[in-house]
Amino acid sequence: MGEDRYLTFALGKGRLADKTLELFEKTGIDCREIKDKNSRKLIFEDKASKLRFFLAKGPDVPTYVEYGAADIGVVGRDTVLEENRNVYEVLDLGFGKCRMCVCGPSEAGELLKNHERIRVASKYPNIARDYFHNKKRQTVDIIKLNGSVELGPLVELSDVIVDIVETGSTLRENGLTVLEEICPLSARMIVNPVSMQMETERIKDLVNRIRSLINNRD
Ligand code: PRP
Repeated sequence: MGEDRYLTFALGKGRLADKTLELFEKTGIDCREIKDKNSRKLIFEDKASKLRFFLAKGPDVPTYVEYGAADIGVVGRDTVLEENRNVYEVLDLGFGKCRMCVCGPSEAGELLKNHERIRVASKYPNIARDYFHNKKRQTVDIIKLNGSVELGPLVELSDVIVDIVETGSTLRENGLTVLEEICPLSARMIVNPVSMQMETERIKDLVNRIRSLINNRD
């Protein structure tokens, strides 16, 4: 591939987006256009470095990358695991650190210990299923929610939840606690497998620049 082709990035909207742009700016990428909150434009370009960016809903980022609509994506590891798309995970960006946990009222700890058939509410049904069915060999009923998952045990929709815990304050304020830890999470860079082959040098160079920035910061 020639130098003319644009590399396209899909960036997860929300919590991670600002930190991602901050990191890209430090590598010399011009992000002014995309940071303009008044603009309704969906796709932004840095002509000098031949890079294009768009923001997408987190769970859609691995979809854009798998189909090659974006060469590269930045999204939380929670989404990478949940969507389980055919993409390469090339870099841990080190920010957005949190944990995927089983949470609930402390009494629910007994239900977990006894391997009872419990109800599990989650925005992450695939992660929850993999954890309970494959890792713990525990039969559970999984209920998919789209947000405010902590409500599950409070209104007796479910016994426990599988959700992200960052500071733990949402749990504390609602009388819930971490019962089991599933895995650590942070922002990841993912790459389309064909792009990785066709644009190896450019992608490797970019990943190396970002990696050395992260290492210097730590
Ligand atoms: C996430 C997560 C928890 C909360 C954890 O929700 O689902 O609710 O953050 O953070 P904490 O441990 O620092 O309290 P988010 O704010 O993304 O919104 P959602 O409930 O709509 O998923």
